[in-house]
Amino acid sequence: MSAGVRAHAYRNVIVTAATAGLAGLLFGYDTGVIAGALLQIEPDFGINGFKSGMVVSAVPIGAVLGAWFASTNSDKYGRRTLIVVSGIVFIVGALISALSPTDMLWVLISSRVLIGVAIGVASAVAPVYISEVAPPDIRGRLVTFFQLAVTVGILVAYLVGLAFADANDGWRWMLGLGALPAILLVVGISRLPSSPRWLLMKGREDDARAALQRVRTEGSEQIELEIQEIETSMNIHEGSWRDLLQPAVKAALVVGIGLAILQQITGINTVIYYAPTIIKETGIDGNSAAILASLGVGIINVIMTVVALRLLDSRGRREMLTIGVTGISVSLFLLGLAFLIGADKTWATVMAIGSLMLFVSSFAISLGPIFWLLNAEIYPLSVRSKAASAGTMTNWFFNFVVSLTFLPLIDLLSQTGAFWFYGAVGLLTLWFCWKFVPETKGRSLEQINDIFETRAKAK
Ligand code: BGC
Repeated sequence: MSAGVRAHAYRNVIVTAATAGLAGLLFGYDTGVIAGALLQIEPDFGINGFKSGMVVSAVPIGAVLGAWFASTNSDKYGRRTLIVVSGIVFIVGALISALSPTDMLWVLISSRVLIGVAIGVASAVAPVYISEVAPPDIRGRLVTFFQLAVTVGILVAYLVGLAFADANDGWRWMLGLGALPAILLVVGISRLPSSPRWLLMKGREDDARAALQRVRTEGSEQIELEIQEIETSMNIHEGSWRDLLQPAVKAALVVGIGLAILQQITGINTVIYYAPTIIKETGIDGNSAAILASLGVGIINVIMTVVALRLLDSRGRREMLTIGVTGISVSLFLLGLAFLIGADKTWATVMAIGSLMLFVSSFAISLGPIFWLLNAEIYPLSVRSKAASAGTMTNWFFNFVVSLTFLPLIDLLSQTGAFWFYGAVGLLTLWFCWKFVPETKGRSLEQINDIFETRAKAK
């Protein structure tokens, strides 16, 4: 293979991963935009409390449904087709929500369920698609494009929220503009190759070979070996739900579902959703300072995800988890302590903001990208889309639970108690990662299967 063809294949695989990663933008944008939009939706629709809660939680609920939909349809129609479908559904949902009449709350809520469905499909399928086209030595970095897009989406949404904060009908713009990244995604993804592993599952060996040639720098001998390795590992069949109970798959599911839950119940979205509220309660004066500080959170989240992108394949998943989750726990205990010391002391405010930043940085180099990465790489091909969807559904469900219970938890335990509770969950997460998460860096998806086969046999 000539150097020119190699460089071309290398560029292709990066473009493929980056384009599919755009699916994360939809997810991030909606996550970041709703808090600001809600401030205007509440007076316009004359709602608050429970009804506002429904406007917000329509998305995670829809996402659970979307991930469920992806579980079988991603095998049936292919990963790429499903990402296109999710983009189109998102565009429709974003436009309807932007045009919702203020006397028809149900239109707004149903369109947000639709947006949720799109996000659920995209988050279940895009990381899997990327992991299936990526060469093993840079798979960590490529799947992390998805998480990077999530963080960029959150940041862009904060900025859009700021820009339209005082505009008439600003919320319509905030929600409607979400259609733009979705259009980009649909146009971009239609030009990419199908997942070679999915093509092999469908018995389309020639198409799989052609797809691999577009994204591999090695010569045809290596590609034939890769095809053989995939075929041997998958027993050429599409697994059923019952196959999730095979011992090796169960061992992998412990890791995937465990991380899905722990990624959420260490409290990341209390900060992402409520950063301005938390910061104001540490004693900072005025809305704009609080908004500025939350912009800081958004920016750090992006920067540290870029750091993760560079380190995941060299340092490995386990080392990054150990460092990051330790940082998560320490910062949560410090945050709780800052609230205990009191809002009127300047250094307590500084400590609170510092620990928020440390918390987000630690999440961004560990649980943030690594959950999505492992969820896409640890399951055998025959059940990959079902198992990855199960992890995604679990993640969205706990996203919903945490955002619903955060404020009541503060009422029950005070801020200090609530953050110490999340800090304790962080310690549990550290133990879990140390005990259950295998190192997957540099291994092919098929070699990762072998780790769990060996684990299951050892039992
Ligand atoms: C999580 C989201 C979170 C985001 C923050 C993602 O990995 O799944 O729930 O809002 O990271 O960057």
